[in-house]
This record gives sequence, C-alpha cells and structure tokens, in this order.
Amino acid sequence: MASVPTIRLNNGVEIPQLGFGTYQIKPAETKVAVLAALDVGYRHIDTAEMYGNEKQVGEAIRESGLDRGEVFVTSKLNNGFHAHDDALKAFDRTLEDLGFDYLDLFLIHWPLPAVGGFVETWRALEEIYGSGRARAIGVSNFQTSHLRRLLEETETVPAVNQVEAHPYLTQDEVRAFDAEHDIATEAWSPIAQGKVLHDPTIIRIAERHSRTPAQVTLRWHIQRGDIVFPKSVNVERMEENFHIFDFDLSEEEMNEISALNRDERVGPDPDTFNWIP
Ligand SMILES: NC(=O)c1ccc[n+]([C@@H]2O[C@H](COP(=O)([O-])OP(=O)(O)OC[C@H]3O[C@@H](n4cnc5c(N)ncnc54)[C@H](OP(=O)(O)O)[C@@H]3O)[C@@H](O)[C@H]2O)c1
Repeated sequence: MASVPTIRLNNGVEIPQLGFGTYQIKPAETKVAVLAALDVGYRHIDTAEMYGNEKQVGEAIRESGLDRGEVFVTSKLNNGFHAHDDALKAFDRTLEDLGFDYLDLFLIHWPLPAVGGFVETWRALEEIYGSGRARAIGVSNFQTSHLRRLLEETETVPAVNQVEAHPYLTQDEVRAFDAEHDIATEAWSPIAQGKVLHDPTIIRIAERHSRTPAQVTLRWHIQRGDIVFPKSVNVERMEENFHIFDFDLSEEEMNEISALNRDERVGPDPDTFNWIP
C-alpha cells in the first residue's frame, strides 16, 4: 500500500497530508473512532476544544500503543479565549485534557474580526510556540484580509491556514495568498460533509477509475497540495478515505473538478461568524 506523503511546514515540521477529523464525533464515541482510525493507518488527528472530545482523543492515542511522536495532533483555541491571557490558559487546558506535554499544531479556530479580532491572540500563540510546547502554530478560517493584518503587525508567519474547501468552494484566492507566503492550506469539510458525492462529474470520474466519489474528491485535494482530514465514524469509510495514494487524476480531470466551484459554503462565513460559547 502506498504511504501517506508529508508536507513540510514553513518551520521545517512535517505534517502527514492525510489525517482524521473529529468534528461532530460525540465524546462517548471518540475513543473508539480514533483507535479505529489509528488502526487503519491514520497518523494525524484534527481536534479542537470546541468539539469537546480532546480528552478522548488523548486517551485513544495513549491506548493505541503508538509513541506520542508517531501521531501528529492538531487542536484549536476556542472562540471566547482570544484575550492574550485567556489564550495562554486555554492552551494549558487543551494540553491537560489531551494528557500531552506538547501539541504538534495549535490554531486560532476563528478570526472573529467583529468581536475583538486576533492580533493579541496571535501574540499569545507566538509565546506558546517560543516555549516549545507547540511544534507549530497557525490559523483557521482566515481570509486574506485577516492574514495580511497578521503579517503586517506580528513576527511569525502562520504555518497553516485551515479553511473550508471542496469542489464547490475551491478557495482560489485564499490558497494563492497562502502559497505566496509559504502558509500550508488545510481543507476542512473536504467532501463538503457528503454534499459533493452526488455530483455527476465526480461520479463519472470515479466510475472511470473504479473508485468512489469520496476517493476521487480526496485525491483531487491531495494532487492540488491541500492537507485533508475527512471525518467518519464508520470503519469502512475510514479505510476508503485512506486508500487514495495508488491512482492519479489526469490534469483534465483535475480541471473538471475545480470547475465545479460555485463559492458555496457548508459552514459559516469567517467575516461575519461571531459565535462565542
Ligand atoms: N476549522 C474549522 O472551522 C473546521 C470546521 C469543520 C470541520 N473541521 C475539521 O475538518 C474535519 C472534516 O470536516 P467535516 O467533518 O466537517 O466534513 P467531511 O469530512 O467533509 O464529511 C464528513 C461527513 O461525511 C461522511 N463521510 C465520510 N466519509 C465518507 C465516505 N467515504 N462516503 C460517504 N460519506 C462519508 C461522514 O459520515 P459518517 O461519519 O457517518 O461516515 C460525515 O457525515 C472535521 O472533522 C474537523 O476535524 C474544521
């Protein structure tokens, strides 16, 4: 079986290009799901304080018998903790809940531009990075205007920008800005929570390769250079989503899928989302 490639982040840290997402996995189901994903071969887990399942993610990694260093773990700062000292305390809680002494990647979950912003928050993440307790720091749901502000007002270029992206929301502007500044793009909801799987173009390409629509969509992300972490609580689907490294889409197929873009989100708009728990 072909192995999962890694992407080198702008500080030299390597991240597996395919991981496992845990949004909407209930805490009571998380340990079983993450253990199953690790058994399938996933070595990159994406969680967040907002998902309420960091504790169970940590338990699963410990119970798997894998060394901590074999699994790349990302978590995110919840909305409501953007003030500098709140962010530092929230990071301590995340580490405590996971039961780890370091995190591989820590992200600001949402920019919240309308309710105080993110610059002092980013300075807190820079301190965390400086302490060595996060191997890399980044942002999530940042539009180019938010990234520009960070680049102008702070020192550290984010290692990643995690944004919603899939064939119906190709995010060309954000991806181009990320690439220009050596920020890796992570694509959340890579199969649009299932919505793109009924698309006739994707189905036709999948039939041609004797693959499933989910595999073709994830393969499209991999070939464009996105980091992805599809979520599933179903072991067969975890396996299906993992086996995408032994076929290639042609340039024409890649372009056909990219042309499906209609700037349609399954999640909130980062410019206006201001939800605080
Ligand atoms: N930073 C952010 O703001 C943000 C926001 C959203 C998500 N994320 C991250 O991105 C990850 C992935 O996004 P997501 O969970 O929203 O959506 P997704 O991975 O695009 O889709 C997940 C949905 O598709 C189903 N599914 C998975 N594999 C499938 C397959 N092979 N065939 C058919 N259906 C399949 C799952 O159902 P079953 O579980 O029943 O299989 C689930 O309902 C999240 O888990 C989270 O880690 C980040």
